[in-house]
Amino acid sequence: MGDVTQPFIGQPGPAGLPCCKLGNPRTRIMVMRTLALLLVAGFTLGRADAGAQVRPAAGQRVVLVTGATSGLGREVAVRLAASGAHVIIHGRDSARAREVLDAIAQGGKGSARFYAADLANNADIRRFAGEVLRDYSRLDVLVNNAGIGSTPNERSVTPDGVEMRMQVNYLSNVLLTRLLLPRLLASTPARVVNVSSLSAAPVDFTDVMITRGFSGGRAYGQSKLAQVMFTIDLAAELEGKGVTVNALHPATMMPTGMVLRGGYTPRSTIDDGARAVMHLVMDPDVGTGQFFNGMNVGRAHAQAYDPAVRAQLRELSERLVGLR
Ligand SMILES: NC(=O)c1ccc[n+]([C@@H]2O[C@H](COP(=O)([O-])OP(=O)(O)OC[C@H]3O[C@@H](n4cnc5c(N)ncnc54)[C@H](OP(=O)(O)O)[C@@H]3O)[C@@H](O)[C@H]2O)c1
Repeated sequence: MGDVTQPFIGQPGPAGLPCCKLGNPRTRIMVMRTLALLLVAGFTLGRADAGAQVRPAAGQRVVLVTGATSGLGREVAVRLAASGAHVIIHGRDSARAREVLDAIAQGGKGSARFYAADLANNADIRRFAGEVLRDYSRLDVLVNNAGIGSTPNERSVTPDGVEMRMQVNYLSNVLLTRLLLPRLLASTPARVVNVSSLSAAPVDFTDVMITRGFSGGRAYGQSKLAQVMFTIDLAAELEGKGVTVNALHPATMMPTGMVLRGGYTPRSTIDDGARAVMHLVMDPDVGTGQFFNGMNVGRAHAQAYDPAVRAQLRELSERLVGLR
């Protein structure tokens, strides 16, 4: 029995919930233990929760980087946060995302929040875009960076039957950008940066899913050229509306996930590519509707400059992702 003259912690609880008297040494130990446990739990939950609830500050630029869990996207995300931005980190793997969030926290500038989505799946892209629209009242820059390289040299298709590189490297850009466009238009001046490549294979409209003569290089090249066509078209559509759209080849054979997994010998650095992407995100004079090779305006495959091909691709793409 406790000593009723001893003070209670807090207010007496509702019926059925015991209140504790500090006078009893066993009770005191129990209370201290419980408090310690609650403190630890609160700290852990608090940290996780803070990660999940991070919001941009007033006036802070918000930049979404897809594929920010590896290689070029990771480096760009860290640099953007170092510039003071709030970065929406997209990827598939929460452990890799945690590492990027930690690196950003250690840098002590900017802020970041992770969202998972599989770009091979249009329903997942729609869910992801819905979450971004729900959680952010502004979006200053969208960097469509996520991608699959030219290896393995095997054809695979999404659950919707679309050739995998076409979907992840290109069609996901179309769907995500279109879904987020209202937020970009509400945040002008805003930008879209599409991370493409000098690798290019013309789109063959008789076999866009490459059922014949497949190679990983051709699939990669087709998807990367399609990104450039999308860039030119969207830039023209948004001319004068405060949203610029550019594409780039960041650098050749950077030592990123796709290059190292493919067994290629790196020929440039991630710093080279990150500087080129940051240029398109930050520089005031990059214009719109351009294809950059690194830091300079370049020239894409001739097919990119054929308006009839672009119109055909747009019609097909919007049908494939369910926008028409
Ligand atoms: N490396 C080069 O030399 C080079 C040259 C020219 C252009 N690029 C372009 O640069 C961009 C970045 O690639 P990287 O070189 O940095 O390669 P990376 O290290 O392999 O990074 C690719 C990123 O894309 C993500 N991703 C892949 N498939 C995905 C999917 N289905 N859904 C969601 N995310 C997915 C990956 O997420 P996970 O972590 O979950 O796999 C990863 O974050 C690509 O568009 C690439 O084509 C690279």
